[in-house]
Amino acid sequence: MKTDILIIGSGLAGCAAAWAAAKRDVEVTLLTRSSQPEESNTFWAQGGIIYQGEDDSPQKLMDDILAAGAGLSHPEAASLLSREGPTLVKDILIEELGVQFDESSGDSTGWDLAAEAAHSLPRILHYKDQTGSAIERVFIERVISHPRVTLISAATAVDLLTMSHHSVEPLDVYREPACFGAYVLDQGNGEIFPVFAKETILATGGLGRTFLHTTNPPGARGDGIAMAYRAGTRCINMQYVQFHPTTFFHPGGRFLISEAMRGEGARLVDSTGREFMSEFHPDGSLAPRDVVARAIHEKMLESGEPCAYLDISHKSADQVRERFPGIYVHCMKHGIDITKEPIPVVPAAHYSCGGIAVDEWGRSNLRRLRAVGEVSCSGLHGANRLASTSLLECLVWGTRAGAHAADLIVRGGEYHFPRIAEWRYEREPVDPALVAQDWLSIQQTMWNYVGLIRSTKRLNRAHEILRELDLEISRFYKRAEVSDAMIGLRNGIQTALTILLAAMECRQSRGCHYRID
Ligand code: SIN
Repeated sequence: MKTDILIIGSGLAGCAAAWAAAKRDVEVTLLTRSSQPEESNTFWAQGGIIYQGEDDSPQKLMDDILAAGAGLSHPEAASLLSREGPTLVKDILIEELGVQFDESSGDSTGWDLAAEAAHSLPRILHYKDQTGSAIERVFIERVISHPRVTLISAATAVDLLTMSHHSVEPLDVYREPACFGAYVLDQGNGEIFPVFAKETILATGGLGRTFLHTTNPPGARGDGIAMAYRAGTRCINMQYVQFHPTTFFHPGGRFLISEAMRGEGARLVDSTGREFMSEFHPDGSLAPRDVVARAIHEKMLESGEPCAYLDISHKSADQVRERFPGIYVHCMKHGIDITKEPIPVVPAAHYSCGGIAVDEWGRSNLRRLRAVGEVSCSGLHGANRLASTSLLECLVWGTRAGAHAADLIVRGGEYHFPRIAEWRYEREPVDPALVAQDWLSIQQTMWNYVGLIRSTKRLNRAHEILRELDLEISRFYKRAEVSDAMIGLRNGIQTALTILLAAMECRQSRGCHYRID
């Protein structure tokens, strides 16, 4: 099939790009792996989206972003987000889509603006502790009912179509590499078909699933990074993986305990109830995330305990239940009443500050390929992301990329599509036990050797293991029947390697890349 713009990923970044493009009257194809298009990293975001606090200004927001980024943020990206972000929240989310956010009569802005770590003032718009789903539900609904948007769900992008892909016949009109769309697997019938696009936008989200413990949903396996990497696209800052300090410690798996809870006064304590963050940073429990995550790690090592605790039980029980209904219910299901007792917490991989290098229009170094949201690196986050910037970045860069790509098409740019060979199917059935074990090896290696605290020895050990595994998985992939699970495994190992190689090269501790040597 042919389309004007192919968008891979249906979270906030993909929705914003699709919305901006469809409004300019171009044909948009929105592709998602999931059978439920709202399933995305966005859907699970708890904290909120930056708006505008009392006495706030773009300069204040920019200063906070640059401080959190540990001197590595791109000032122009921070300035762009600070200037355009709050206006887009108002114009698109509040006015056009009518997304519901919590209001407060006690606040002069009319909104219940939350405080979060490393923000100099409360400026986070939220809907209880379920902001991502409040935005995503409304946005995806509106996007897929737009007449210019075609949704393809339960379909997995396999590879980007570029001149270097083995199945693409050379096309003389392009003297420099370009992207023409993607090969896509129909999960229902196992067929692989090409989607040719004048412009392709990757909005595939994060990579937290390459680590053993993560806040991210199962789809966050680094698909976009690996596809872009294979197509020769530049990925940068991959060593900066942010670990969220507080996830629910339970054998059933990690669950995010929003930073907004510390914004509401929750304190980090040890098993005796002693507050410990003031030993590490003047901002105590609201210190920047990398500082808090490492402090918890250090406390756990020192005490030999398997977790730290987050205590909000001193607040009114009704208020806590009203403000954090998702967290309250989740913890209660696992036997912890957060209104009465401290929550056991540990850090977990949360957000990739690096990604596909893009400019202010989401353009990568590969012609006609853009990336937006977590899969991209606009330079905004530097070495450590400021809380609640991610949804805003999705909105700003998604809108800009969609609008810019559509404007080029509307102005009548010249586009050619190459001829491609039929997909060569391999039919060896995949043993799910092998896939599961390979994932576990990737995740354990990344967690133990490329995690919160890194060293040359740990990174070298990870290199030996992952290189071997990469060879094994590529051999396995070449013979196997292509399935979503196989595609994910191949992408997972390649993404893990890009993080590892960046971490090996970067010998300086900064932000969330921390080396003990
Ligand atoms: C949280 O609610 O703590 C996560 C928000 C974010 O990562 O920006």
